[in-house]
Amino acid sequence: RGLLTGIVQGFSITGIGFLSYPFIKAWIPKFENDLSLEIRIDDLLPGQSKTVRWLGRNLFVLRRTQEELGILDQAEPELKDPNSKESKQPAFALHQFRSFRPELFVVYNNCTHLGCEVSREKAKFKCPCHQSDYDGAGRVSTEAVAPTNLEVPEYQFISGNRIRLVVSEV
Ligand code: FES
Repeated sequence: RGLLTGIVQGFSITGIGFLSYPFIKAWIPKFENDLSLEIRIDDLLPGQSKTVRWLGRNLFVLRRTQEELGILDQAEPELKDPNSKESKQPAFALHQFRSFRPELFVVYNNCTHLGCEVSREKAKFKCPCHQSDYDGAGRVSTEAVAPTNLEVPEYQFISGNRIRLVVSEV
């Protein structure tokens, strides 16, 4: 009788396993699909932004106005790392705009101090946790406790209307 009970239990467990496989599979993240993400940018007017989630983090995608670009073009003596030498970004973003095309800015919104999410305030960024300020290119101010500029992800333009986020090789 014990043997029979064992056999029945074995079949039951196997059956439950087969039946639940599709549900379990649906819960497992598809990591291979997360290694790049396409984002539409033609829905952003100057001054508008959107938040995109990728690889477990949020990032801002925003279209700057001409006025915002003009501010970034001016000398900024109160920045900790104005040329982003100590900060993380792709090689194409090593200038005052920190973007592939000046008008389109893509940046992770985690503060570089302890990782709180910054908010966008009047074309700048501010961390709610310990008040670190970043300019419109995510460059941290000299007064802030955050050590470096906001991180810029690797991305490519795949058309005039779309960009593709890709995993950085650095
Ligand atoms: Fe942003 Fe501390 S986490 S200033």
